[in-house]
Amino acid sequence: MMAEYVAVARVDELKPARMKRVEVAGRKLLLCNSEGRYFCVDEMCSHEDYSLYLGCIKDGKIKCSLHGSYFDLATGAPTCEPADEPIRTYAVKIEGGQVWVAAG
Ligand code: FES
Repeated sequence: MMAEYVAVARVDELKPARMKRVEVAGRKLLLCNSEGRYFCVDEMCSHEDYSLYLGCIKDGKIKCSLHGSYFDLATGAPTCEPADEPIRTYAVKIEGGQVWVAAG
């Protein structure tokens, strides 16, 4: 079954380098604005159970503030240790002045 898109924010709601916690299809996710582009990823770090909401967004990546791993927001891949597993990424679209995320 195709994942359904859910509206999670107004398109002008987040300034660059800001993020918002959203829940889609029972999953806790982060909507991230990196330099004007929206991305959506799992809220929790893949290294330990720690919220990436406490980190920061920089150059298309999100940083975990517990041990300092960065994850690419487009692919979810870790770009430095200690994390070696990716975080999940979710499809995002802009339509009708809203940001939509699919996470089925
Ligand atoms: S919990 Fe995120 S890098 Fe360790």
